[in-house]
Amino acid sequence: MANTKSSDRHFFNSFSLVLGVLIAFAVVLFVFSRMIGRATQGQEVLLEPMRLKQVQQNIAPFGHVAVAGHDNSALAVPKSTAVAADVPTTGEQAFTKVCTACHSLGINGAPKIGDHAAWGPRIAQGKEALYLHVIEGKGAMPPRAGTTWPDATIRMAVDYIVSLNK
Ligand code: HEC
Repeated sequence: MANTKSSDRHFFNSFSLVLGVLIAFAVVLFVFSRMIGRATQGQEVLLEPMRLKQVQQNIAPFGHVAVAGHDNSALAVPKSTAVAADVPTTGEQAFTKVCTACHSLGINGAPKIGDHAAWGPRIAQGKEALYLHVIEGKGAMPPRAGTTWPDATIRMAVDYIVSLNK
């Protein structure tokens, strides 16, 4: 009996010792890796080009002042191409971009493409009337079909939609 007890204690003692050494070793490794990391990786993260760029953007002055006699070209307001890019250049483009949403399936009472019975009397009004109805809106169709396109683009789209239903 006594023998078993002391061998249990002996096992427990050596087991604790091994455990303690392993934990101490892990702590030492942790501290060591932190020290290496601080000296190298920390610097690398700080000098990362993407991060530097972001910092530059964040600390860039909010306003710029044009100074007479200096090169102020950097202050020129960039011409917005977004609006121009949004305006289709052909009737077909306009149609596929916007008009098709309602007219392909005949949504909300829109005369459907290919439905000659529905288009006949409308086309008979003459193109000028159709242009006007699309520009000013008609029934469930909002003015300019909900776009900000110029008259010329709307006219091209109408011409195209009419050509599909002749
Ligand atoms: C939001 C849905 C919708 C969109 C988008 C739409 N239309 Fe229409 N359109 C209609 C509806 C609904 C009518 C029928 C209006 C009525 O007669 O009450 C209609 C009617 C028309 C007519 C006949 C007008 C008349 O005098 O009878 C033309 C032409 C027309 N649309 C062209 C176009 C063109 C071109 C576009 C794209 C630039 C377009 N539509 C986009 C819903 C739409």
